[in-house]
Amino acid sequence: MNKRLISIAIDGPAGAGKSTIAKRVAQVLEIEYIDTGSMYRALTLKVLRNNIDPKDEKKIIEILSKTDIDIKNNHIYLDEVNVNEEIRENIISKNVSYIAAIKEVRDIMVGLQQNLAKKKSVIMDGRDITTVVLPNADYKFFVTASVEVRSRRRFKELLEKGEANITFEKIMADIIKRDSIDSNREISPLMKTPDSLLLDTSDKSIEECVDIIVSRVKEVI
Ligand code: CDP
Repeated sequence: MNKRLISIAIDGPAGAGKSTIAKRVAQVLEIEYIDTGSMYRALTLKVLRNNIDPKDEKKIIEILSKTDIDIKNNHIYLDEVNVNEEIRENIISKNVSYIAAIKEVRDIMVGLQQNLAKKKSVIMDGRDITTVVLPNADYKFFVTASVEVRSRRRFKELLEKGEANITFEKIMADIIKRDSIDSNREISPLMKTPDSLLLDTSDKSIEECVDIIVSRVKEVI
C-alpha cells in the first residue's frame, strides 16, 4: 500500500541553518529535500553572467523566458548544467534578493516548486513556503537564529570555501540587508505564520533541531 504523501514547509532568514537541517530530516524520513533558494540563485547566476543589472526587471523577465531551471537529486541545473557550486558564491548571495522580489520571477518559481511537491513527500525550505508555495503543508516551521550567530555561520562557511575579500562585518551587513529586502518586499515577504513552530537554532546543534522536527512528524505519521 502507498504511504500517504507528507509535506514539511520551512521558512526563515539567511544562515539560520534551514538547508542543513532540512537535508538531514529528508535523509532520516526518506523524503525529498527541495532547496527553493537554489532556484533563485541559479537565475541570479545567469543574470550576472549576462552582465544584466540585478535591478533591471525588464531584462530579467526577458531572460527568464529563455531560462531552464530544474532540481534533480538535490542538484540544481541551469539550462541543463549543474551549477551547485557557483550559486553559493557570495556575489550571488549579495544580489539574489533583488531578483527574488520580482513578481514574474516568483510566479514561475512557485509553479515549478508546487509541481515538484505534487508527486513525492517533500521537505522544502525558503522564504514563502509556509505562506504561498505549500500553505496547506502538514508541518510548518520557522527556523531562525540571532543575526550574530547567522552571520558567524555564513562567514565561516565562506572562509572554508576560500572566498577572498570578505570580513565578518561585511557578511553581517549583507545578511542584514538581505533580511530586510526579503521581509519587506511587496510580494510574499518572509514572515512567520501563526501555525508555524518557531525553532531558534542559536544555541542548538543541528542534530537537536533535526530531532525536534523528526519527532513532531513521527508523532502523527
Ligand atoms: O541559504 P540562504 O539562507 O542564504 O539563502 P537561500 O535559501 O539560498 O535563498 C537565497 C535568496 O533567495 C533569499 O535571500 C531570498 O531573497 C530568495 N528566496 C525567496 O525569495 N524565496 C524562496 N522560497 C527561497 C529563496
